[in-house]
Amino acid sequence: MAHFLPLSRVARLVGESRTVIQRMIHDGKLSTFDGMVDMNELLRVFPDVQWEDNGEFKRVEEIKAKAFARRVYEHALPDKEVLAERLFEMGREFAAAKTLLLHYDEVLRFLDDKLDDVTEAGAGVANPAVQQAVVDLKQWLRQELEARPKDTERAQSLLAQENVMRIMSAQVTVLPAGHEFSVEGNDTLLEAALRAGIPLNYGCSNGNCGECKARLVSGQVKKVHPHDFVLKDAEKADGAFLLCSYTAVNDVVVEAGVSGADDIPLQDISTRVKAVEMLNDRIAALHLTAPRSQRLHFLAGQRVTLTADGVSGEYYVASCPCEERHIELHIRRDNRPFSRHALADLAKEDVVRVDGPHGRFVMKLDSRRPVIFVAWEDGFAPIKSLVQHAMSLEIAESMSLYWVAGAVADSVGHYQENLCRAWADALDDFTYQALDTAAGTTAAIAESILAQHPDLYRADIYAAGPHAFLQALQAGALARGLSPLGWHGETIE
Ligand code: FES
Repeated sequence: MAHFLPLSRVARLVGESRTVIQRMIHDGKLSTFDGMVDMNELLRVFPDVQWEDNGEFKRVEEIKAKAFARRVYEHALPDKEVLAERLFEMGREFAAAKTLLLHYDEVLRFLDDKLDDVTEAGAGVANPAVQQAVVDLKQWLRQELEARPKDTERAQSLLAQENVMRIMSAQVTVLPAGHEFSVEGNDTLLEAALRAGIPLNYGCSNGNCGECKARLVSGQVKKVHPHDFVLKDAEKADGAFLLCSYTAVNDVVVEAGVSGADDIPLQDISTRVKAVEMLNDRIAALHLTAPRSQRLHFLAGQRVTLTADGVSGEYYVASCPCEERHIELHIRRDNRPFSRHALADLAKEDVVRVDGPHGRFVMKLDSRRPVIFVAWEDGFAPIKSLVQHAMSLEIAESMSLYWVAGAVADSVGHYQENLCRAWADALDDFTYQALDTAAGTTAAIAESILAQHPDLYRADIYAAGPHAFLQALQAGALARGLSPLGWHGETIE
């Protein structure tokens, strides 16, 4: 009996990213059927994976070891009713499989008896070839039934691992975009999607506005938070539900809107300073925390207006939208009023108002191509957010990051270089290169980046920096075959 697994679950089972699995499929190294992978194919392609050592088992062991300490319980396990439903669903599948096996057993016994009848009556059968064929068939049948199937132990481990995964999490496919993510712990579908970097439409995130309305195409969802927004009976009959109130019981397919830069409503959020972290003597990271009930809805690459004590300034968000309540901004030491105020006066727990988001320098979510990120000086802030967003989405075929900054006094320098190097160390398809602003003219620096990418015709470039540099980079890239649709530039002087 074939057992098929969705790609996201395959990636987690073998400990690879979805990008790697997709590339194997593209290269013909792993076969799929309707976008799913057969368990036997998985065992063939990954003969060395130790399924028992997989993170999911370890997580279960951790939970057991901590004796269901409240915090672990809340974060790692699904809502208890969802857990019960998943176990019930699995029990039903197990019962169906067992019933089928019992039926097959009966059929085989019947066949065995019939073959006995034929061989016993065989003395009278005129054709000895027919009689021999029946004897051979019976012998073959017995041998096959006694033999243990190949790879039994590995197949059992894989199935056990997959069952644990199905109890701990559910897979979600979003139509029509085709995004996939998994729902873990007692997350709602909205929380899980945002954590995975998928910007589904939403407004209040607490059941009041109806902006997160979606339609269930298949699978089962369960309400885990009450909502005041009223769905019409006809909508409910058509499968409508609110992503911020429901979680997935089993693997589900939903129809839901994904936000573009123009779809996100302007927000005005009162945040608290978590820390002002000096990254070097010329730039600081301002860490803000949004209220529990009002996280900032934005896309990677966008900017916001900050106001504290009547002083305002506009800055790019450097954190990923997947980071829940944390908002990071890079504040350069300069003469702008907010910069001076932030670096001199802001302290932990101070209130900072955040208005926004603004801007269209955002990630193309449907691109499965190599992505080149280029930051000039503190243009690194939006690029950092985009890189983290691309990592959480796992859609880019490969990522190359170039950061141009100088060592002179008016430069911010490569102020988070360790982080960039850590990304390059941790990810197979991620490269990082630091470039010096003094290495040549802007055109020469642009050229030195582009010379490393001979196949620009199927790439996306996201670049943030001064106009002259972007102009040189864009012209050079288009001349080397970049599609105009693959260019995404943000001027930051
Ligand atoms: S986001 Fe407002 S109801 Fe779900």
